Amino acid sequence: MTASIEPLSALSDNDMESKSHLRGPVMSTATKKPHLTLVWGDIPDWAYSSVASILETLKHSDPGTFEHCLRVGEYSRLLAKSSGLSEYQQKVAEFAGILHDVGKMGVGQEITHKPGKLTDSEYEVMKAHPCYSEEIIKPLAIHDFFRQVLPAVRGHHERVDGKGYPDNLHGEDIPLVSRMILIVDTLDAMGEDRAYRKGLPLEVIYKEIQKFSGTQFDQNIVKVFFESHASWKTEKADPNTINFLIKKLKAA
Ligand SMILES: [Fe+2]
Repeated sequence: MTASIEPLSALSDNDMESKSHLRGPVMSTATKKPHLTLVWGDIPDWAYSSVASILETLKHSDPGTFEHCLRVGEYSRLLAKSSGLSEYQQKVAEFAGILHDVGKMGVGQEITHKPGKLTDSEYEVMKAHPCYSEEIIKPLAIHDFFRQVLPAVRGHHERVDGKGYPDNLHGEDIPLVSRMILIVDTLDAMGEDRAYRKGLPLEVIYKEIQKFSGTQFDQNIVKVFFESHASWKTEKADPNTINFLIKKLKAA
């Protein structure tokens, strides 16, 4: 990793809520190594089965979004890792990425999979999906870990210029993990084959991300993304990751 961002300064108040163990030794420059190891007690052992249960519902109601969520979860983890976030925050990013679009189940596929442009009223319905995702996972926020995941999920369509939704947050008011998800969500959505078009080539997607760096996307995170993305394919899946677990469930 050659670029760095300032993870702690970029975390919103929500991110930092009572997380004294995240304030100290998280990497803040490229020359430092993260030395905070994940404490598994920080993630409840029921987290995996609870999330797998939600995803099982998504898989049956909307297989395309299910696959998209799995990929975005993995990419979010990799971008968080490339950005020098702690293992704990990498897990927050992974779970938030996996859960970011589960609320699309509440929107309906006639809108989420509509070929072509949405009408204004359809777009208003679509804009509710981050809030629906938040509602679906809110019961899990009895634990601190999911209280970190919640704002990251709710904010995944916020833009740094304040023109996003649902809360029109600006810049660093947007949870750091949300700003990461927005980039990898775009990467995956543009690369995906749709009923009405083929997935776009990587160079076109890169141009789009670069074009909207500083308006839609956080430019520091975009920089880390461009410096690290090519190396992600050499990363091996961690056998403890939620994606690994879910892929096993898929194969069963
Ligand atoms: Fe979304």
